[in-house]
Amino acid sequence: MIEFVEGPLLYISVAVFFFGLIARAIMYIRGLSQNLERIAYRPQLGRGLVGAFASIFKWLIPGGTHGWRRQPFMTLVFFLFHIGAILLPFFLLGHTVVLQYYFGFSLPALPSYLADILAIAAIVGLLGLASRRLFVPEARALTTSHDWLILALTAAPFITGVVARFCGGESYETWMLAHIIAAEIFLIAAPFTKLSHIVLYFLSRAQIGMDFAIKRGGHQRGSAFPW
Ligand code: HEM
Ligand code: HEM
Repeated sequence: MIEFVEGPLLYISVAVFFFGLIARAIMYIRGLSQNLERIAYRPQLGRGLVGAFASIFKWLIPGGTHGWRRQPFMTLVFFLFHIGAILLPFFLLGHTVVLQYYFGFSLPALPSYLADILAIAAIVGLLGLASRRLFVPEARALTTSHDWLILALTAAPFITGVVARFCGGESYETWMLAHIIAAEIFLIAAPFTKLSHIVLYFLSRAQIGMDFAIKRGGHQRGSAFPW
């Protein structure tokens, strides 16, 4: 089992993740319709792209939009989680070793104290995101079992990774195996669930940005958006 999980399944899960997300991106772009959405994507490409980049970029800055400024708690826990979620899979020392060994390329590694801080911050952020779904009435009303499943699937690699690192001791190997299985389930699930936002975030923000830049008086506003 260990050989399978650390061999073929590792390649399969990484391939499903990357090719699956590429397929989702292609499906999204092919699903756009100039006529149905009444947005002149092609004729107004230049103006549209300015809007697309502004929309993507502003939501990536804490407090960069009205939406973030109105919800300081959400902003805090969202960024606490996402900074680690994006940096750790690529730049954690343990992961750079795995990438080098299985995929033959090396990336710079974060200092381990920083990686530990990011990992713990990510777990605190996830707890904050979960508590928001429990205690903020409008978030609670919209929450389904799918949302809880996604939070659990996401939390599992973080918790098992941190436990293996800090409390592993004699059971290090077991926690590491649990970590790898949890990470593989996460990678395989991503293209089929809303975790596909890892790429679709950029496309849906770009689409809304183009919409607002091309229509809705965008030509008078430049990149000054109402959000
Ligand atoms: C299947 C691919 C993966 C493999 C083989 C793998 C392997 C490892 C290894 C070797 C460590 C180091 C443990 C140590 O320092 O003793 C680790 C830690 C960790 N991994 Fe992964 N990992 C994988 C995927 C992921 C994913 C997808 C995530 C999150 C999205 C993740 C999050 C973490 C975290 C948070 C730690 C602990 C970091 C710390 O406390 O410094 N891993 N992993
Ligand atoms: C550049 C990449 C990413 C971007 C731009 C991004 C952006 C977002 C956005 C906009 C949301 C919605 C927040 C809301 O409820 O309003 C979200 C939620 C979420 N993201 Fe990401 N994300 C990225 C990568 C990741 C990664 C790598 C993971 C997992 C390791 C992840 C896990 C999650 C989870 C679990 C939620 C749901 C939180 C909840 O249920 O409240 N994201 N993300």
